Amino acid sequence: MSMLSQPHISNAHFKTRIFLLTLTPAYTDKHAHINHKTISQQRKTMKVFLLGALWGCALFTQFICATEAPLQNTSLQALSIQTYSRDSVSLNGEWKIIVDPYENGYYNYRYEPFDQQATPSQNAYFTDSKQKSPGDLLEYDFDKSASLQVPGDWNTQTDKLYYYEGTVWYRKTFDAPPTKNGERTFLYFGAVNYRADVYLNGKKLGVHVGGFTPFHYEITGKLKDKNNSLVVKVDNKRHADAVPTLNTDWWNYGGITREVKLITVPQTFIRDYKIELTSLADKTVSGRVLLDGAKGGEKISLKLPELNIQQTLTANSSGAAHFSFIATNAQLWSPENPKLYSLQINAGKDKFTDTVGLRSISTQGKQLLLNGKPIFLRGVSVHEEYSAKGGGRVKNAAEAKQLLDWAKGFNANFVRLAHYPHNEDMVRLADQMGLLVWSEIPVYWTINWSNEATYQNAEAQLTAMIERDKNRAAVIIWSLANETPVSDARNKFLTRLATKARSLDNSRLLSAAMEKHYRTDNANVAVVQDPLAEHLDLVSFNQYIGWYDGAPEKIDRITWEINYNKPVFISEFGGDARAGNHGDIDTIFTEEFQENLYIKTLKMLDGIDGFVGTSPWILTDFRSPRRHLPGIQDEFNRKGVYSNTGEKKKAFFVLKNYYDNKAEQNATNN
Ligand code: GCU
Repeated sequence: MSMLSQPHISNAHFKTRIFLLTLTPAYTDKHAHINHKTISQQRKTMKVFLLGALWGCALFTQFICATEAPLQNTSLQALSIQTYSRDSVSLNGEWKIIVDPYENGYYNYRYEPFDQQATPSQNAYFTDSKQKSPGDLLEYDFDKSASLQVPGDWNTQTDKLYYYEGTVWYRKTFDAPPTKNGERTFLYFGAVNYRADVYLNGKKLGVHVGGFTPFHYEITGKLKDKNNSLVVKVDNKRHADAVPTLNTDWWNYGGITREVKLITVPQTFIRDYKIELTSLADKTVSGRVLLDGAKGGEKISLKLPELNIQQTLTANSSGAAHFSFIATNAQLWSPENPKLYSLQINAGKDKFTDTVGLRSISTQGKQLLLNGKPIFLRGVSVHEEYSAKGGGRVKNAAEAKQLLDWAKGFNANFVRLAHYPHNEDMVRLADQMGLLVWSEIPVYWTINWSNEATYQNAEAQLTAMIERDKNRAAVIIWSLANETPVSDARNKFLTRLATKARSLDNSRLLSAAMEKHYRTDNANVAVVQDPLAEHLDLVSFNQYIGWYDGAPEKIDRITWEINYNKPVFISEFGGDARAGNHGDIDTIFTEEFQENLYIKTLKMLDGIDGFVGTSPWILTDFRSPRRHLPGIQDEFNRKGVYSNTGEKKKAFFVLKNYYDNKAEQNATNN
C-alpha cells in the first residue's frame, strides 16, 4: 500500500511518530550464571523485559499502522474554504518544470526521501537551490528549465509528455501580496492530478492525493516579501490502491490542472457557509455560516437584498452561526428559470458575497420531483475534456461553457459530470445556465474495497466534492461510484460512503451508476438488482445493449425487471461512431449504426416503469488509452453525439428530437 492512497498529510505528523519510537528499553545476554535469589530476580527482570518488549511492540505496530492507516485530516486545511467569489492573487500562468521519472529530486541515491531529512540536501528539487560558486555541484536549475502553463495538463502541452505518467516538478516564484496587520494568507489549488507534494521556500506544506478536488494551506508567516519559491511535485502514476485505480477509460492527464491562487483574509474570516430550501411548503430557507479565527460572540450580518432578507447572527465558540428565514417571494431555481440571488455575509472586517439558487429536489415513489413537480432528466454524460483545439483537461470557464452549450444544443436540462468532480466553473455555469448536475467521485470499476486507506481516500474526495458544491442549486445528485462489481467488501465500502454523504448533505439525492444482468431463466429479461440500491434514492445503471451486449436488434426484445419503488435513471448507453463515417445501420462505427442504436434504445427506455431520465454516453468523443482502432478511434472513445471538435453526428438529431418531445410533455404536464 503506498502513501498515495492517503488524502492529506501535513508534515508535522511524521516527525512525532519517529520521536515516540526511540523511547523503547534495551537488554543484552551477559548475565547468564544462576542462584535462587538471582532466579527470582531474573524472573522479575524477565517480567520487566517481557512487559517492555510488549510495550515496544505495541508502539511499533501503532507506528506501522499509523503510516499504513489513513491519517484523518486533522488540520484546519481539512475544512473546505469557499473561495470562488473572493478577491485573490492568481499564480496561474507559466511555471518552470523538471520532468523527473526517477524522482531524483525527491529521493537520494539510497532512495530515502529528501523531505524526511532534518536538513534536506540542496539536491532536493524542492529546495529550488542555486549554484553558489563555480565549483558548486548542482544538477538542476529551475530558472533555466522548460515551462508549462498552469492550469493545464502536461500531456497536451508538449508531445514529449503525451503518454507520460510519473513525476513532474513545478516551480513558481512570486512576491508576497500586501497584507495589513493580522491578515492571513491561504494558498489554494483547484486540483492537481494525482499526488501533490507542496513546498514553500523549501519547507513542506503537505501532501494532497486525489486529482479532482481542491485543497489549500494556510501560509501566514511563511512568506518572504520577495521571490517566494513555490514547488509542487506532481505525480500522476496510477496505483491499485488509489481512487481511481489502475484501469479507467479516460486519459490520465497529469499536472496542475486547475487554478492556483493566494487569498488574503482578516484574522477572523468567513470560511464557509451552507444554505438550502428546507421547506418547499412555506419556503423556509436555513443554513449556517462558519467563521475561522472566531472566539465566539462575533456578529455576522447575512443579506439577500433582492428578497429583503437581512439577519444578524452571533457566532458560537467554534465560529458557527445558524440561520433560518421564510423567503415568501423567492422564485425557485429550475432549468427553465435558473434564478440566482445575491448573498452577502459580513463579519468584522470580512465580507463575502456569492450567488445562490433556492430549489427542492426529492423523490416520491418512482417519481422525481423538482420543486414538488415531476421532472424528466434530459441528460448527457460529460468528461472534463475539451480537445477541440488540441487541448486536454478543461482549463477555463470558456471551454466549460462550450461543452455546456453543446449539451444545450440538443435541449438537455441535465449533465452527468463523469466520473470525477469537474472544475468549479463547470458547476457554476450549470447554475447560471439552468442545467441540473450529477456529480461523481472516481470510485470506478475495481477499486481495492478492503483497503482502509483507499476508503479514506474515497471519503476525502466525497467530502471535498460535497463541501465545494453544496451551495449550487444545479447540483441535485451525488454519485458514489461507477460500474462497481457487487461483493460484500464493495457493498460495505459504498454503504459507508452513502452514510457519509448523507451526514454531509441530506438535501440532495444519492445515486451510483450500477449494472444490469439477465434472469437466468429468461435471457430477454434484464434485471437491475443491487444491494447498494437500498441505500440510494435513484436506481441508476449503465446499459450497452446493442453495443457491448449483442447487436442493436436485441434491444427490441428486451424487457426490464427493476423491483424498487424508486425512480429509474439510465446513466449510460451508446456506441462509437467516427463523425463523417457513413454506411448502413449494420456497419459498426458509422453514424448510421449509432443513430439506429439511439432510436432503438430510447424507445426501449420509454418502456421502463419509473423511467425519469438518461445521460447517454457521451457528449463529445474523448481521449482514451483503451481505444486503438486506427482511422476510427486513434486513442479516442468515439461515443460522442458530437465529435471532439463539435461536429454533430446523426445521433445528435435523434436525441434532440427526443428531448424536444420530452420537454413539451413535461411543460404540458406541469
Ligand atoms: C463504461 C464506463 C465509461 C466508458 C464507457 C465506454 O460504461 O462507465 O467510462 O467510457 O463505458 O465503454 O465507452
